[in-house]
Amino acid sequence: MLDKQDPTEDYIPPFAPPLTGDEGIVKATWTFMKNPLEGFGPLCYRQPIVSVKALRTKIHTVTDPVGMNEVLKTKVADFRKSPLSDRIMKPATKEGLLVVHGEQWRRQRRGVSPMFAPRHMARLAPMVTEALDEFADNINAVIEAGGGRIELREAMADLTFDILAKSVLGNPKGMEKGKLKQAMAVALDVAGTIRPSDLLTLPNWMPRPIGPRGLRALKTIRDAADALLAQRDPDNPGDDLVGLLVSTHDPKTGQGLSVREQRDNLIGFFIAGHETTALTLTWALYLIGNHKQTEARIVEEVRAVAGDGPVQYEHIEKLTFTRAVIDETMRLYPPAPMMGREAVNDTQICGRDIAKGDIVLLATYVMHRTPRLWDKPNVFDPDRFLRDPELNRGKGKFMPFGAGPRVCVGAAFAVMEAVMALATLVRDYEIKPNPNCHPKLKMKITLRPDCDIVASVKRR
Ligand code: HEM
Repeated sequence: MLDKQDPTEDYIPPFAPPLTGDEGIVKATWTFMKNPLEGFGPLCYRQPIVSVKALRTKIHTVTDPVGMNEVLKTKVADFRKSPLSDRIMKPATKEGLLVVHGEQWRRQRRGVSPMFAPRHMARLAPMVTEALDEFADNINAVIEAGGGRIELREAMADLTFDILAKSVLGNPKGMEKGKLKQAMAVALDVAGTIRPSDLLTLPNWMPRPIGPRGLRALKTIRDAADALLAQRDPDNPGDDLVGLLVSTHDPKTGQGLSVREQRDNLIGFFIAGHETTALTLTWALYLIGNHKQTEARIVEEVRAVAGDGPVQYEHIEKLTFTRAVIDETMRLYPPAPMMGREAVNDTQICGRDIAKGDIVLLATYVMHRTPRLWDKPNVFDPDRFLRDPELNRGKGKFMPFGAGPRVCVGAAFAVMEAVMALATLVRDYEIKPNPNCHPKLKMKITLRPDCDIVASVKRR
């Protein structure tokens, strides 16, 4: 057993065991369906591309920066998002940026991208601070009541939900946050469960059944989004993200978004931006709680940069080690561990022929851990991002936000809130996960721990 507190020892946190390669196709497919992260064989960790035939479809798994860049950037016209990702997302956000294609996507993207520009981030940062203050009040109340225990994923989901509610929705009065939060969790759970029918190549127009529970959750989400948009005065919509969404227009054509597009993008921001950031913080706190040196370095850095006061937007670029911990967390546990594409033309990736209709799985999780590309890939080592500052420039082997024209539109917002939250929480609280908690990795659209991570919390 590793002594995680010994600075000379490597800390290897939980990882998804690969297939051995000796399983037959039935067992391998079954493992993939139960938990895709455990469904990659040793070849996927050794080779840039691995191709298999599943039923009638050829699937190519790409785990190499060159192949990823070809699919996402240089040969982007040869691909579209995979029918499965469309079918998973469409019930919730049919007309939103996450799923639309072609000219509709280009028009929306041109309109939405400026909303996430640095000048808006600086304006949204105080809302993150406000959410962190309220979160601290809640934790302090738990500590004072003598409990001092939180479940990390739930607590971080609460925090990032409140950050989004303030910054995206303008913290509307009368919104039933608890009900909406619960509906979001159900919608993601239902959408993220892979079923045998998902492996069939069904036509894009065929709806994916989500059952009465999923339908009820979606109705709650849509009603909340409609109500929020209806409250906005188009002439004075406000300067949170909903306000920006209502007033946004394509700089090229001057065209705004339809009401349906506004609603679906609002829902899309919640789907794409709530759990992903919550999971980044959950895993980061788990890693830090198990690695004393990292904890001490963050506390020291944050005190030197921000003293005891609020962590602010202008501090972020000086919190280089804290940012490196966020990056290393997203390397080991990329919240979106896989992206799917379908070839729309015959083409070549990593020198291999890809036929029109083939599916390409961009396995970010595997690329982030392949020994071909990383020294000691399973070791938690935030300093690798300080030793090589080029790593998080979005070009190479580290790709938590995707790349190319469809790169995550909310990446700057996500990094801002993750750094501000981690810096504040680690400086102000000692958060210790139960030492017997060794979660397995589970993929349900996002990469989650398979169990609760209960942690004790003390004020420093
Ligand atoms: C740590 C947090 C996050 C991670 C790891 C993440 C990851 C990703 C990835 C990998 C993609 C590309 C998917 C693909 O190409 O198939 C993506 C797209 C997207 N993300 Fe994020 N995301 C995060 C936070 C956010 C936030 C906070 C928002 C909004 C508030 C957001 C909104 C979106 C949208 C709208 C897209 C679709 C962009 C397009 O297709 O043009 N994400 N995200």
